[in-house]
Amino acid sequence: MAATVVVESPEQVPDERYRALIKQLIESQGYRELMAAHLFGAALQYVPTLALKQMIVHHIEEELEHFARTVELYRELGCGDLMPVVQARLAQNPVAFASSWDELAMVQFLWDRAGEFHLREYQNCSYRPYARIIQRILEEEEGHEGFGEQVVRELCQDPGYRPRAQELFNKWLRYGLLSFGRPGTPGNAYAVQMGIKTRDSGAVMQAYLDDIKPVMVACGLRFPPREQLGVELPAEIDLSLPATTSA
Ligand SMILES: [Fe+2]
Ligand SMILES: [Fe+2]
Repeated sequence: MAATVVVESPEQVPDERYRALIKQLIESQGYRELMAAHLFGAALQYVPTLALKQMIVHHIEEELEHFARTVELYRELGCGDLMPVVQARLAQNPVAFASSWDELAMVQFLWDRAGEFHLREYQNCSYRPYARIIQRILEEEEGHEGFGEQVVRELCQDPGYRPRAQELFNKWLRYGLLSFGRPGTPGNAYAVQMGIKTRDSGAVMQAYLDDIKPVMVACGLRFPPREQLGVELPAEIDLSLPATTSA
């Protein structure tokens, strides 16, 4: 059913439940953006060339800019300072750092891409102040994930590298899938009902998985068995791979 709620400003928030959900969304996004900046920053030492280091520094700036937008949004919503909230969460769930150049590429390919699919759900969010910041962030995230994919594809040209790629793939696929939140919860249904997002987390996971499948085939990668993933997936999730790809 089409959303009937449109919230143009914090003053128009209909009730406490809606406000709590938007607050939680901004906190999660802030956590992801600052985590990305920290992760890329710590991995700068592994980036092989000056030109690539400059590009990664640019990505870090973009992640911090995304974080700054969430800080602003949080304050406007009347929730105070987001920084200590995110710092506490980062301390509780420390960032999984990349410890090599190829791992950084896998992070960008899988984790930034998950971030993009997650954010796309909010492009037409009924909380308009949030929807307004999403578009620019999305464009920049596409740059990050596209770059990661290109490096992963190049490295996987060497069949001898593939076992290592598979190991990194398994690790970061899990983090990517965790970005979507648990599927099928009442919170999901409420968010869809209120036009905050368009579909359940499980459907977004499927779209994300379908998007990476052609790259997986081209790189000789496989999904790990679902019981080893450590992520709650909807029962009907399709983990089959296309037989061949022209990608
Ligand atoms: Fe970002
Ligand atoms: Fe990013």
